[in-house]
Amino acid sequence: MSNKAAITSEQLSTVKATAPAIKANSLAIASRLYERLFENHPETRAFFADTPPGQAQRLADALVAYSENIDDLSPIEPVVKAIAKKHVRAGVLPAHYDIVGTELLGAVVDVLGDLSLDVLDAWAAAYQMLADIFIEVEAGMVQAVGSPTPDVPHEWA
Ligand code: HEM
Repeated sequence: MSNKAAITSEQLSTVKATAPAIKANSLAIASRLYERLFENHPETRAFFADTPPGQAQRLADALVAYSENIDDLSPIEPVVKAIAKKHVRAGVLPAHYDIVGTELLGAVVDVLGDLSLDVLDAWAAAYQMLADIFIEVEAGMVQAVGSPTPDVPHEWA
């Protein structure tokens, strides 16, 4: 698992310094993300129609785990792969990551209030780094079955 996105060491420090505030509000941020997503991009509702309740909690936990492991992501690699499988099955595409990223930052601002540009840029870079990892892992999975259809990959079960 490589990460292509450029995040500066200063941004990493900013992410770590502000991670506790995100952690303390992670469920509110994740819930707000879904509200914003469904309001601004109603087409994404279909993705979550069959999703069991608790999705906001799982997303919140994932974001916290990510920020806590931002220096060395290897411990969360298995979790990333498990989530990536679900994304591929659901038909998530690279373009969706930009939409989610925009609404996630919006949700952070909605919940935590105005943040400095430095903080916002640092979290945008951190999100992009994670999104690039997911996109790469998911592209590899799609390629492995030779089709982007989400209903074939029995070997991932
Ligand atoms: C870096 C960004 C993202 C993170 C951290 C993330 C995280 C997660 C997590 C933790 C789960 C739950 C897995 C489980 O049930 O154990 C999940 C599932 C899901 N995600 Fe994401 N996700 C991201 C991006 C996206 C995008 C861009 C979409 C498309 C709009 C998406 C759509 C879904 C769907 C539809 C499921 C449910 C799959 C199912 O329940 O079968 N995710 N994601």
